[in-house]
Amino acid sequence: MTQALDHDVAGDWGVHQQATRLLESGAIQEGVRLLGDVADRTTDGLLRSMCTYNLGEVLESLGQIDEAYQTYYPLAHASPTTRNEFDHRARVRVMDIFSTRALRVTPPDFPPKVQIEITNRCNLRCVMCTRHQMQRPLGDLGWETFQRIADECSAETGCVLSLYFLGESLLHANFDQMVRYLERVRHRSPVPLVYGLQTNGTLLTRRRARVLLASGLREIGISLDGLSGDLERVRPGASYEVIERNVLGLLETAGEMGIDDLLVDICKLCDDPHSAEARRFVEHWQGKVRNVHLMHITKVEGLSYLGADGSIQPVGPKQHSPPRAYCGEGSRLLIHWNGDFAFCCSDIDGELKLGNIRDRSIREAWNSSEMEDLRGRMLAADYAGLSACLRCPHSYS
Ligand SMILES: C[S@@+](CC[C@H](N)C(=O)[O-])C[C@H]1O[C@@H](n2cnc3c(N)ncnc32)[C@H](O)[C@@H]1O
Repeated sequence: MTQALDHDVAGDWGVHQQATRLLESGAIQEGVRLLGDVADRTTDGLLRSMCTYNLGEVLESLGQIDEAYQTYYPLAHASPTTRNEFDHRARVRVMDIFSTRALRVTPPDFPPKVQIEITNRCNLRCVMCTRHQMQRPLGDLGWETFQRIADECSAETGCVLSLYFLGESLLHANFDQMVRYLERVRHRSPVPLVYGLQTNGTLLTRRRARVLLASGLREIGISLDGLSGDLERVRPGASYEVIERNVLGLLETAGEMGIDDLLVDICKLCDDPHSAEARRFVEHWQGKVRNVHLMHITKVEGLSYLGADGSIQPVGPKQHSPPRAYCGEGSRLLIHWNGDFAFCCSDIDGELKLGNIRDRSIREAWNSSEMEDLRGRMLAADYAGLSACLRCPHSYS
């Protein structure tokens, strides 16, 4: 009996190979049918996961993203103690897809992205930043809270940790130590935790860059909203010359240290990505860093922004109306410096009340009844009484 089973399993591995060849040759339907058959009948857990994962890949390649998500989902939620290589891979895909589809698909059991506020202090006074509207006290993330977050996220395959919210993280006295800690714990999961920093670049001297690179930081986003002259007006307190020197110094330092996997992303907010000003900016930075990207600025009532003609434009009073449809948020979890959970970046003061990490883990907050309730309300576009949503700049008409 055992022999017969072993033979079947060996045969099924052969069928998987046959399916792979068919898919490679473009015989998608036949390949998919064989994969499905093997996944349904095999007694070999690894083979079952592999076939199911491959089916998900095919669906993704055909642009059937929701179907691919549903195919990966059960693998991604296999028990952590028995998860195999393909279950882990499926989990990464689930986290990635949920990041873009958000509540349009069933949430995974852990947030794909956790964004932590290292500090809400800042050394700049950017004219467009919602930080000006923040009502809560200033403060820094404590070491114990940081460790709790780092430990929980590093145990979760596919979670990405972002080290910023409404302040400048490099102002935190222990930031370098936090990076060192993350580097130590990130390999606890078979798929190492990915983490990155978004910074205004003002404090990223060569010395600091060397320490951070030596500690393990490899993903750095620089918020640089204009070239010399423009930047100083849109980000008062900043000097373009200093930041450019810092970014070039960072790249050179990485070169000196033999680091070839550094990902530097320059991000510029703009009103019109086709303007001459935006084009000049991209031309200046393209080729120097791994990625330059333009992001649409959110115009916040009472604040200002850099217009396409280079002038600072005030944003006047707006007509507020509750969003008429699901806003698209809900794919990440934010944690303020004091440990309060927040639903999205418009939940500036944690008004949506998801509790504090002192009292519940990230997993508990993500799967809480409060979160479930919020998700239901977002999907139904029932924003009544949700003050943060009613004030959200995305809900302006
Ligand atoms: C608030 S900053 C804090 C992190 C860091 N101090 C920095 O400057 O990157 C985080 C990100 O929010 C972006 N941001 C600020 N105001 C914005 C707005 N009105 N619309 C869209 N993004 C905005 C910034 O450009 C930056 O990339």
